[in-house]
Amino acid sequence: MSGQRPVAFTRWSPLHSTADRLQHAAPARCRIDLLDAPENLTALDGALVDQARRVARELLATVDDAGRRWRHTQAVAARAREGSAAVAPQQVNLLISAAWLHDIGYAPALARTGFHPVDGAMHLQQQLWPPAVVGLVAHHSGSRFVAAVREVQHHMIPFERVGHWSGPVADALTWADQTTGPDGNRVSVHERIAEVLSRHGADSPQARCHPQRGPALINAVNATEDRLLLARAAGTSSS
Ligand SMILES: [Fe+2]
Repeated sequence: MSGQRPVAFTRWSPLHSTADRLQHAAPARCRIDLLDAPENLTALDGALVDQARRVARELLATVDDAGRRWRHTQAVAARAREGSAAVAPQQVNLLISAAWLHDIGYAPALARTGFHPVDGAMHLQQQLWPPAVVGLVAHHSGSRFVAAVREVQHHMIPFERVGHWSGPVADALTWADQTTGPDGNRVSVHERIAEVLSRHGADSPQARCHPQRGPALINAVNATEDRLLLARAAGTSSS
């Protein structure tokens, strides 16, 4: 997996103090906002979006599914770009990077827990990606509900920040994922939920957590569509 390691992320290593991070300034093309509070998720340089796409393409090429997961991922990233008006301008690259990376945990080489949001996040954390990207991947599309019924929630602890599962960026990532079908086709959130429940079965973790996860997914989609409507209205009124 050559070329996969993001450059100049040493300052994000959990082993480094904030002072260490500040001493190891990243080059301008990988500028990262040091503020990673939920209300101020990381602003990423556009170069990381390209790197996220390359990492996803390399890893998902190893999934034995005739390219299905990669087609889905490409469509989710495109959908995230369509929905970029739902987030603050400085968060657009974060959203799109997370969209490219959200399903890399399906790559066989990354399998550690067998729970793809965590496996993807663990890999990204190991590769020193910004914590906001890592956290969004860990928590995409209501994964915390699935983790609870699978009893793997302890693996989510390193990635717990409210902004990773709620708020405009997390909602927009869920919107992009939950309005894109397995082959990259555009679907409604209700069609997506029904397809997942049908595919995984009534006894699946997805079905068992559906009473909690389903409404959360629908709320995230509705909130994003409301934000997009407001953004369009603001654009129309100012033009
Ligand atoms: Fe997905």
